[in-house]
Amino acid sequence: MNKTILFIDDDSSLRRVTEYNLTSAGFHVLTADSGRAGLEIFEAREPDLVVSDVKLGDINGLDLLEKVKTTSPDIPVIIITAFGSIEMAVKAMNNGAFNFITKPFDRETLIRSCEKALELRGLRSRTRILTHEVNRLTGTEGIISASPVMKELLDTASRAAGSEATVLISGESGTGKEVLARLIHQNSPRNHGPMVAVNCAAIPSTLLESELFGHVRGAFTGAVRDRKGHFRTASGGTLFLDEIGDLAMDVQVKLLRAIQERQIQPVGAEKPQDVDIRIIAATNLDLRERILRGEFRKDLFYRLSVIPLFIPPLRERPEDIPALAAHFLKKFNAPADVKFHEDALAAMKSYAWPGNIREMQNIVERCIILKKGTVIHLDDLDLPGQDTLPDGLNPLIPDEGISLEEVEKAYIVNALKKADQNRSKAARLLKIPRHILLYRLEKYGLTSN
Ligand SMILES: Nc1ncnc2c1ncn2[C@@H]1O[C@H](COP(=O)(O)OP(=O)(O)OP(=O)(O)O)[C@@H](O)[C@H]1O
Ligand SMILES: [Mg+2]
Repeated sequence: MNKTILFIDDDSSLRRVTEYNLTSAGFHVLTADSGRAGLEIFEAREPDLVVSDVKLGDINGLDLLEKVKTTSPDIPVIIITAFGSIEMAVKAMNNGAFNFITKPFDRETLIRSCEKALELRGLRSRTRILTHEVNRLTGTEGIISASPVMKELLDTASRAAGSEATVLISGESGTGKEVLARLIHQNSPRNHGPMVAVNCAAIPSTLLESELFGHVRGAFTGAVRDRKGHFRTASGGTLFLDEIGDLAMDVQVKLLRAIQERQIQPVGAEKPQDVDIRIIAATNLDLRERILRGEFRKDLFYRLSVIPLFIPPLRERPEDIPALAAHFLKKFNAPADVKFHEDALAAMKSYAWPGNIREMQNIVERCIILKKGTVIHLDDLDLPGQDTLPDGLNPLIPDEGISLEEVEKAYIVNALKKADQNRSKAARLLKIPRHILLYRLEKYGLTSN
């Protein structure tokens, strides 16, 4: 099928000539005489390539370029600049144009440029298909979500992915913050760029500035050559700042400036440099609490949490357990007939999972290796503390603490209710001798019941 090129220029005779030249070279050509008209045609017809003049009556060519880049990053744009306007050409290239052509141009130059740009378009979509396939095979695409909270979270995340907004992911250790960050990157217009992950907690604060922003040769002892730094390595892609809550205060100031200005100053450099990145940050700490303690900057917190995403702990979404269990069986290549017994699934649903999904993944993997038959039972799980915690009991301690006496009283009242106020039956339900129940009833003033 013929490739479609949208040509935008307000000069009507140039439009006619170009249309003729491109059509005779075998392209399908659409033309527009203004930026606005061009955008309308672009949205309605989805051409394979846009060739646009910079100076248009209404929207200028660079704004148009930006709009095309945000909605359809795969579609190349060639910018036409007036002779000698090198500055404009540089700007266009920096903003993601495929190439620029200076006026006046001949038929051959135009056709060659278009052919090259269309080649790139083909490559980009093939890369996207391949990336998708690789992700499917390596499992990074498999974020399991059966619970309503996770479904909603993934829905918000996929909408956030399409924007350039900074995302702050919080959640306990092992809840899937990094997989979520990768998912956002993969579904973003920057997915053909890199995703660079930096663990802020693992780098000593004295080194962090040069790790993040780079340095020039000779900036300090040991700086024998220039270093790019993660911000510039991530250029065109996403920078994932993991464990952001552990960042030292002095680096926080610099990070804030970098995010605000989209500029960084490599250590020892004379001038700041522009950076083109999207930031996703993650933390398992309560940043608000750290702000109150004076350990995290409030302004940085607000800068980072343009889109806050909180991943709830696994114990708060037991609906995900069966789906995750099935997912991990497949992931660790368990034979197709291997299953979890109902009692094992029930135990996993009521277990508190302090290590969240990572812990569950490890336990399932261990079960697959050690299993005796095809059915994995409760005992095979060997959950920590399994013997001491009855099913269905969720012994979580809220931050403000809890009165053990109140808990005990509540269980006794419920046992009596369930036993129709029959004390012997209630004692059996609570697995204590009758005389001990009577003593407790006395103690809690429940004897009148
Ligand atoms: N929803 C999910 N579906 C399938 N696998 C998941 C899901 N969430 C997390 N995982 C898996 O659990 C493991 C832990 O996830 P991840 O490393 O993203 O957690 P984290 O929140 O970054 O943890 P930490 O705070 O300890 O760094 C990974 O192996 C990941 O593949
Ligand atoms: Mg992590």
